[in-house]
Amino acid sequence: MTPNRFYIEDASKFDGKVVTVRGWVYQKRSSGKIKFLIMRDGTGIMQGVLFAGESPAEAFDLFEKLTQESSVEVTGIIRAAPRQPGGYEMGIQSLRLVNLAEPYPITPKEHGVEFLMEHRHLWLRSQKQWAAIRVRHEIIRSIHEFFDNRGFIRFDAPILTPSACEGTSTLFGTNYFDEKAFLTQSGQLYGEVGAMAFGKVYVFGPTFRAEKSKTRKHLTEFWMVEPEVAYADLEDNMALGEAFIEHIVQSVLSRRAPELKILERDLTKLEAIRGPFPRISYDEALKVLEKRGLALPWGEDFGAPHETALGEEFGKPVFVHHMPSEIKAFYFKQSDMVGGPAVSGTGKYALGCDLIAPDGYGEIIGGGQREENTDVLKRRIAEHNLSEADYNWYLDLRRFGSVPHSGFGLGVERTVAWMTGVEHVRETIPFPRMMNTLRP
Ligand code: 4AD
Ligand code: MG
Repeated sequence: MTPNRFYIEDASKFDGKVVTVRGWVYQKRSSGKIKFLIMRDGTGIMQGVLFAGESPAEAFDLFEKLTQESSVEVTGIIRAAPRQPGGYEMGIQSLRLVNLAEPYPITPKEHGVEFLMEHRHLWLRSQKQWAAIRVRHEIIRSIHEFFDNRGFIRFDAPILTPSACEGTSTLFGTNYFDEKAFLTQSGQLYGEVGAMAFGKVYVFGPTFRAEKSKTRKHLTEFWMVEPEVAYADLEDNMALGEAFIEHIVQSVLSRRAPELKILERDLTKLEAIRGPFPRISYDEALKVLEKRGLALPWGEDFGAPHETALGEEFGKPVFVHHMPSEIKAFYFKQSDMVGGPAVSGTGKYALGCDLIAPDGYGEIIGGGQREENTDVLKRRIAEHNLSEADYNWYLDLRRFGSVPHSGFGLGVERTVAWMTGVEHVRETIPFPRMMNTLRP
């Protein structure tokens, strides 16, 4: 790469200077004697202008031949153009063809989503897709920043694992030499190891669920960030989650406003995302749902309509805590009553906390306080029909200096969907994996 080479995103620093854009033809338009070449270089989009009589004839000839997505090097002078996205345009002085593109399958007309998904490798060049992935980058950057600022250590968990974290029904299995292995559903159990060794850690990596659900919120491969903190209880956990979400929202608003504009995101809704977030128990949530005509029998998990209704009720992310333990994983600490003492093992409630995002984006954080008692944990493992031998190392965390501890997992794709306002999580990751999607 040439040092100091020009990128469209830096155009404001080059006002009045002659530079070369190395990029691709996004679109072209003609209006009488003026030709407009809409160029993209990966960092942004800029309009180049050719004037009959002013620009060289060769450039005009080449302009006529250029096809959508042909690669070109375009040299010219940068000048302010307040009505243009980015505020600048280029007065083209010369054009060089790098590669003439074949007829491009994705044209400015509307395409069906199936067709676009089959062409995901090309679709990513389109403005909205490009913008969503740039917001994703900012979300990930701000996640690392948040934890680094607070002294958390990044603690990588394995992807190939011998056992389940979130129940055996959504495991992807694979052969591991002579034994069976599974793609990790969550790095949590390993994150707990990290919390005992480093005090506060976060696991960040891909996670896998053989979900048979075809919804706008479910992927089979998604990225999760999972903080885990020793000596933290359920309240501490919700406070951490709240500060975390506020940090991500503020970072995206301050650093990705142009992308959010491309995505037509209503910024006032994001600007309103400030703590404190309401915290309600599952029992209270049932009352809210009943009031809204969505009565749910005690002990049942929320579905999409319930999550949407809770989002509407509060207009902000809302924490739901103290869920029925029968619908939660084996590792949750339990309690007999909401707000009461955390009586290990006899509890009706799990000390969980899920954060429900507004506007139907559903649960973006799932977590809670972990069971710290060896005997209770053994019993829970048995109740869930899991093999104790697989969890012996995990039980060691309780045998050797057990402490109260908590953590949560945030789904990156659901967070990107919510921040960008994109309807479906398939547009929030470069190559989504879903029940019927393995290619490209
Ligand atoms: O609620 P979940 O299943 O929690 C856990 O896995 C815990 N072990 C995390 C922890 O405490 N360390 O998943 C956490 C989050 C969900 O709130 C959601 O945002 C996301 O992961 N998620 C999915 N995202 C996309 N597609 C799926 N199939 C998802 N399943 C969960
Ligand atoms: Mg969950």
